[in-house]
Amino acid sequence: MPTKIVVGSQWGDEGKGKIIDILSKQANLVVRSQGGNNAGHTIKIGHKTFVLKLIPSGILYDNVNCLISCGTVINPEALIDEIKNLQSQQISLNRLKIDPLAHVITPWHIAFDEILEEARKNAKIGTTKNGIGPCYADKAYRLGLRLVDLTNKQTLAEKLKFVGTLKNQILERSFNRPPIDINSTIEAFLNFGEFLKPFFADGVQVLKQAYENNENILFEGAQGSLLDINFGTYPFVTSSSTTAGGICTGSAIGPTKIDETIGVAKAYLTRVGEGPMPTEISNEIGAQIREVGHEFGTNTKRARRIGWLDCVLLKRSIAINGLNKLVVNKLDVLQNINPLKVCYAYKDSAGKIYDTMPPSLDNFSQLQPVYEELPGFFEPIGNCKTFSQLPASCQNYLNFIEKLCNCKICMVGVGPSRLENIII
Ligand code: GDP
Ligand code: IMO
Ligand code: MG
Repeated sequence: MPTKIVVGSQWGDEGKGKIIDILSKQANLVVRSQGGNNAGHTIKIGHKTFVLKLIPSGILYDNVNCLISCGTVINPEALIDEIKNLQSQQISLNRLKIDPLAHVITPWHIAFDEILEEARKNAKIGTTKNGIGPCYADKAYRLGLRLVDLTNKQTLAEKLKFVGTLKNQILERSFNRPPIDINSTIEAFLNFGEFLKPFFADGVQVLKQAYENNENILFEGAQGSLLDINFGTYPFVTSSSTTAGGICTGSAIGPTKIDETIGVAKAYLTRVGEGPMPTEISNEIGAQIREVGHEFGTNTKRARRIGWLDCVLLKRSIAINGLNKLVVNKLDVLQNINPLKVCYAYKDSAGKIYDTMPPSLDNFSQLQPVYEELPGFFEPIGNCKTFSQLPASCQNYLNFIEKLCNCKICMVGVGPSRLENIII
């Protein structure tokens, strides 16, 4: 297997975890490069369900090494919980490596995530409140703490006293909030550092060696391309670069070493949090899809917003990632819906047609989707093993997407488990 990147091509939760798990069977190393515990990647194996937030989805194969790269942001307590939780299920974690250059989410980041959301009043982002944005902001401010800092008492104390004092002043004076105790944070972080130190490894060397040994390397994107800090629906985005380019900068891999980039999409669209969503379905069809597809956040349990597949946005994702192939997941969820709508353009109030996303969100929110209506299907498809076993209307739906987006569909998800997938 060549070096592959798997990214979300919508607003996240496309089923990346399932695809990484399937591809991990042939992988030697699986790498997470960006984001933090805002992600929730679900893997279903038989009756067991695993939800991974920071640890790469390859961890469930006991011969696969996993690396959390320095482009991620780590809540050490959340990561330790995830490690212990997997260990309690007899998953060996000695294959996990963590780059100590990854930045640390502190209690101040979580407090400011919450405070900023409150301050936004009617323009909330709808973040996961895990401190992701403030942590990446501090990284850019060069105020950040890295995992390696948790292993040196003097460095940690110096850094946390400086940043903590600064932030406590803002908490108290600007927001009338109690300060966060610096000394107890230092103590807690030293303990976290001690726990995590055995997992530390130089990400540059881990990847260099794997590449030189001709290992099969798989990069697991988190979030989705429409949440990308540069190309997403800013400001309703996450704070990392969620595209294939972001995977390269977030881990020690140059773009010349990537052989294939796969985008994962749902056969429809979901979004958690605020921001424009032109194809949002607010009627009973949306409720049906949410119910049948169990569209409730794996992480925050929020109900996901539901929409028709938006190929204007999907084509944008194909372009910004340089996608070679698409996976279309959750086709089974569209059973019993007729007709199926696919958005291929937008229209403004004067009737002008747009086939790309406009730069201003004010304009974007006012555009109406233009749909192609395609026949639905009524028979269950969970047992289909090949493309030709799918009902004709499913084949037609997939062919329509493939042609419109000019990107090959390589896999179709017809159920949540490892086995409910059609490889084309
Ligand atoms: P991720 O964040 O991209 O890994 O996706 P999530 O795990 O947050 O959400 C995807 C959800 O859809 C999970 O509950 C998966 O078990 C489920 N899922 C994945 N693929 C399929 C599919 O083809 N059909 C159905 N019905 N469920 C799927
Ligand atoms: P996975 O990897 C879906 C969304 C949040 C919010 C916005 C910013 O499971 O696909 P943040 O906490 O990152 O500052 O929130 O991004 N968001 C996700 N939505 N799936 C995710 O991850 C997400 N990670 C962040 O809901 O709208
Ligand atoms: Mg998810």
